[in-house]
Amino acid sequence: MTSTTSRPLDRLTLWTPGERRITDGLPFGERADHSPMLLDLWTPTHGARHALMGGASGSGKTNTLNVITCGLAACGDTVIWAIEVAKAGQGQAAWLPCFDWLATRLDEAVAMLDAAVAIIDARSRVLATHAARGQGDDKVVPTPDQPLLTIIIDEAAALFGIRTGNPDRIELAAQATERARQISQTGRSAGVQLLVTTQRPTVAALGDDGDFRSQLHPNLCLRMNRRADVGFVLQGVDLDTVDTTLFNVPGLLYVQDGPDVDPLPVRSYALYQPPIVNRLAHAFATARPTLDPVARTAAGEAYAARPADPFQTPTTRPTTPRRADNDRTDTPSPRRGRTAAGDALDAARTAAHTDLPDLPTLPLAHLPNDDTSTTVDGDDAPMTEAITAVLAEAGPAGMTAAEITNGVKKLRASAHRGSVHRVLRTMVDTGTARRTPVGKGYRYHPTTTPESHAA
Ligand SMILES: Nc1ncnc2c1ncn2[C@@H]1O[C@H](COP(=O)(O)OP(=O)(O)OP(=O)(O)O)[C@@H](O)[C@H]1O
Ligand SMILES: [Mg+2]
Repeated sequence: MTSTTSRPLDRLTLWTPGERRITDGLPFGERADHSPMLLDLWTPTHGARHALMGGASGSGKTNTLNVITCGLAACGDTVIWAIEVAKAGQGQAAWLPCFDWLATRLDEAVAMLDAAVAIIDARSRVLATHAARGQGDDKVVPTPDQPLLTIIIDEAAALFGIRTGNPDRIELAAQATERARQISQTGRSAGVQLLVTTQRPTVAALGDDGDFRSQLHPNLCLRMNRRADVGFVLQGVDLDTVDTTLFNVPGLLYVQDGPDVDPLPVRSYALYQPPIVNRLAHAFATARPTLDPVARTAAGEAYAARPADPFQTPTTRPTTPRRADNDRTDTPSPRRGRTAAGDALDAARTAAHTDLPDLPTLPLAHLPNDDTSTTVDGDDAPMTEAITAVLAEAGPAGMTAAEITNGVKKLRASAHRGSVHRVLRTMVDTGTARRTPVGKGYRYHPTTTPESHAA
């Protein structure tokens, strides 16, 4: 049985602040075979990708977001903005030293999204100018001097989903939705992206804008109690084969790289204690990039006047001119203090080892769709045989995954639902079974000799 007991911070704290690149991927958890799961938020072929994470209260959204933010904070080519209006910034506060801007009020969030739209326009104009001269790339390729801009939105419904109460707030929510949709549709090539989390994964939580939802992927799906909610986050999958109610501890999730791609179960690293997050944040804050001059100018006054610390305690944001100001020769060199960073990382590492217990053992391999094998191997042969036997009895309408599981269990009492689903998926991939969408679900058919089973 595969299980994970992870010492979560070991990997993360070995990073040197500012030296990672977004194309290195963000390791945020482990798969069933212990290999690290990477999140690719920018790829050379696609550009910037907008992600959606959904999960019930307490399923581990903020924790998972912490791990992802930690990866972003280690990247020297990614500027991070964050919006958290649900809990007045509480969930994101520990990362403040790494955020270039944190909005904790609705009006500020709208101003931030406005600025992001303006940055996309300005960068797109530069791309067009270069293209007209036959120069440059077709998209912004993140570098420390022209970084990717990632906007984290923790609890989307609190920003986009306001439909009742104060009319001003309803109007602000509508504006936020409109801007977010624009960013999701135009940010890809301009290097501006959204990372959206939500407790209630419904179109209403995203401002009733289906276009907006359709732009968001990869998809991260933690425990959710309703099938429809899972179906909102994971797109185009057979909901009979993904059951997040099996996620009995926080931090378990399915990761789906894009619509219609098979979701993989993952255990996210644990990173939820604010003192540890805060130590990491201070370590990585020593080497954060700043927005390029084009983006800064476009972001305008709201950006220039953004509060250094929305919590109004003594500021932790570096007040000295930052990296992109290197056109000014009288300024001190950028804050890239390796020693300070090293000390802070050591402290975080020590704290992690003393404060964090080993995580509970988890039967990841028994969850549906674990990716320990993508081809049928020797161990799967008896299961393949059982599924083939069950499918042979299917009528022209085929069978659902649940019906197949029941049938297999009659033949092999020890069969586990997760294994049935995994082998079934492999059979579809390799052409030894057929899957057709019917209504909201899927039905399976044998592919061997269909005419011999015709009713
Ligand atoms: N990967 C993990 N490993 C171990 N424990 C975890 C993990 N992720 C979360 N937890 C535990 O679960 C608790 C809830 O996690 P978290 O705050 O991330 O949930 P959430 O989905 O953001 O909840 P809410 O919707 O209420 O904001 C954490 O305080 C922590 O104790
Ligand atoms: Mg949370």
